[in-house]
Amino acid sequence: MSISTSCQQNFSKVFGRESLIVARSPGRVNLIGEHVDYQLGWVMPFAVDRYIECAAAALVEPEIRIWSSSIGGAPLRIALNDLRALDGSDSWANYVIGVVAKYAEAGVEVTGFESVIDGNLPLGAGLSSSAALEAVTALVVENVSGTAKSPSDRSKLCQAAEHDFAGVPCGLMDQLAVNHGRVGHALMIDCRDLTLTPLPLPEELSYVMVNSGVRHALADGEYAKRKADCEAAASMLEVTTLREATLPVVNAARESLGDRLYRRARHVVTENARVEHFAEALTSGNRTALGQLMAASHASLRDDYEVSCSELDLLVEMASRLGAVGSRMTGGGFGGCTINLVPRDDAARFCEDICRTYRETHGQSVEAFTVAPVDGAAIL
Ligand code: GLA
Repeated sequence: MSISTSCQQNFSKVFGRESLIVARSPGRVNLIGEHVDYQLGWVMPFAVDRYIECAAAALVEPEIRIWSSSIGGAPLRIALNDLRALDGSDSWANYVIGVVAKYAEAGVEVTGFESVIDGNLPLGAGLSSSAALEAVTALVVENVSGTAKSPSDRSKLCQAAEHDFAGVPCGLMDQLAVNHGRVGHALMIDCRDLTLTPLPLPEELSYVMVNSGVRHALADGEYAKRKADCEAAASMLEVTTLREATLPVVNAARESLGDRLYRRARHVVTENARVEHFAEALTSGNRTALGQLMAASHASLRDDYEVSCSELDLLVEMASRLGAVGSRMTGGGFGGCTINLVPRDDAARFCEDICRTYRETHGQSVEAFTVAPVDGAAIL
């Protein structure tokens, strides 16, 4: 059964009537440009063919009712005049409540709605399930309230919801990727002026995600600490963000920055340069360069930025031994997935081999699956 069908059927079961709209958002994977968006650097994500969907219908009552197939139970009911973050087991709903609240703050007269959330995007795996949940909610709010935002403005409201309702001071990459995705393309995004350049992805490569199964928790404070480190380094270098710094400038300030801030800043400036080189290598079809840049990105995230973990490091090492063109951790880190570029006709063998080898050497199961670049969030 397709997700849309099960989403609509669940809606009828839970709310006893037909849903009127279904919004769908892809997840995203980032090819390169990690932990640089909040320093206004360059990133290169694409929207992936794993989705979160939301079936919904407007309500006369001024409230939202939300039900998620992965949680079950009774629908949560939240009055539109009482939009605040929830604690404990209901906190998953904060992405929804937060988006509604941000639209209201932006002056939209939000109409109440009831909605069912379903999907096949793994949660907490670094594929931006949160940005996808925000995007479907935003589309539903716009639809029932009779307003329309551009994908970039929608992304900014979703980001604000994540900051204030989920407590994650994230950059804008995930929201831009899921709202602007373009089939067959990655998006090279300049996070300083939000220019998006679609880059065609080579069809002869497969994009294999390997999910370490380690659950990341960006809200646990490490993400915020990295961001604060960057801000401290930028201020010592007398630049607004590390986007304005260069490697020679960072190197010259090595002593005054101290070891930790030096390594954080070095990651950001070298990662920004890698994104530009990656775009050139994609255009010229230089697989060796793609692989080297991904390896360097992973090493920098592991050693300088300290956001990897032993499981991700092992998966990246294994991938190169098993014939991947390139491999690195993707997303916020501390677990989640690696992204692997693999020759298309070798992808099935690669998936089997990495799962088997990891199980044999590490005693744990991982999941490997290919993803394809798709269009961004929309009402179906
Ligand atoms: C998370 C954040 C993004 C970005 C990545 C790391 O996914 O939501 O804004 O910072 O981590 O690149």
